Amino acid sequence: MQYRTLGRSGLKVSAISLGSWRTFGVSVDPATTRACMEAAYEAGINFFDGAEGYGNGAAERAMGEVFRQVGWPRDTFIVSSKVIRVGDRPTQGGLSRKHLVEACDAALRRMGLDYLDLLFCHRPDPDTPLEEIVHTMNELIQRGKIFYWGTSEFSASDIQALYAIAERDRLVGPTMEQTNHSLLHRRRVEGELLPLFKRYGLGTTIYSPLAVGLLTGKYNDGLPPDSAYAKGADWLRKRLTPENIEKARQLTALADELGIRMSQLALAWCLKNPNVSTAIIGATRPEQVRENAAAAEMTDRLAPEIMERIERILSPPPGA
Ligand SMILES: NC(=O)c1ccc[n+]([C@@H]2O[C@H](COP(=O)([O-])OP(=O)(O)OC[C@H]3O[C@@H](n4cnc5c(N)ncnc54)[C@H](OP(=O)(O)O)[C@@H]3O)[C@@H](O)[C@H]2O)c1
Repeated sequence: MQYRTLGRSGLKVSAISLGSWRTFGVSVDPATTRACMEAAYEAGINFFDGAEGYGNGAAERAMGEVFRQVGWPRDTFIVSSKVIRVGDRPTQGGLSRKHLVEACDAALRRMGLDYLDLLFCHRPDPDTPLEEIVHTMNELIQRGKIFYWGTSEFSASDIQALYAIAERDRLVGPTMEQTNHSLLHRRRVEGELLPLFKRYGLGTTIYSPLAVGLLTGKYNDGLPPDSAYAKGADWLRKRLTPENIEKARQLTALADELGIRMSQLALAWCLKNPNVSTAIIGATRPEQVRENAAAAEMTDRLAPEIMERIERILSPPPGA
């Protein structure tokens, strides 16, 4: 496994990490959840990503069960939670001081932990002033409840405003942004967020690096019944466009030429970008974790001419 510092912090995070959206506590049984997490830990993955919203707490409870069973030393792994909403009542959502503090405590209870390494604002909350967020996150750091904080899918201007408040008030600003990034979704990491990488050293914990499995090649010849897109909602299936499937087919052929899996090509491509601190994968089976974790050692396989061929597959010249 390869380890990278998370933004400008000193925290060493594995280049591949493991998330829990739609899987643990929801569609994956407890024994398989444990097998996936153990496969990850054995492969050197040290970061497990949770959120209060995943299965309304069920994902974090499932991960907590595994932490209790396996007994890994707490100083060997990193855990996150993300806050945005956990119930229908007005105070059960948003990024107010009340909900941030209560959500952090609830995540700790669900996972049986004393502190979270990372706490994210899962989505912007237009009703909470940014000052309130910066100050509350710093209070949580002071109280030893969290070590670092960040955002997910915040605009570059909002993240910049968070840094400005932190600088003005001599507080700790966001360390990382969690955003969608893959061969099929590059706009934010390669565009909007660039000035923040340069100026503040913003870290990124990118998600859906395999486009929820589309970039494994498993949809090249149809819809496998036991797959995320077969079981998923309409908004997900809409991404199975003929154009995306054609790109996946051509990328699979390139991966075959290199003697690696399509999933590994997709993840190694993400990790070629130095602004990616870690790529958070999802998994429903331990074999997927092992296959994907191995990609961290494959960035050298993507030589400049291979990167160019990938670009041509992603943006074929008009009429091609
Ligand atoms: N901050 C946010 O808003 C946000 C949003 C989304 C996700 N996330 C985080 O990022 C994590 C990863 O997101 P994601 O699940 O979309 O990631 P992903 O890695 O793009 O897709 C994961 C899914 O692809 C399939 N898969 C993975 N590896 C495979 C392999 N080697 N061969 C075949 N199929 C494979 C599995 O689904 P099947 O086996 O069911 O097909 C797996 O659940 C989440 O768990 C969550 O922690 C955050």
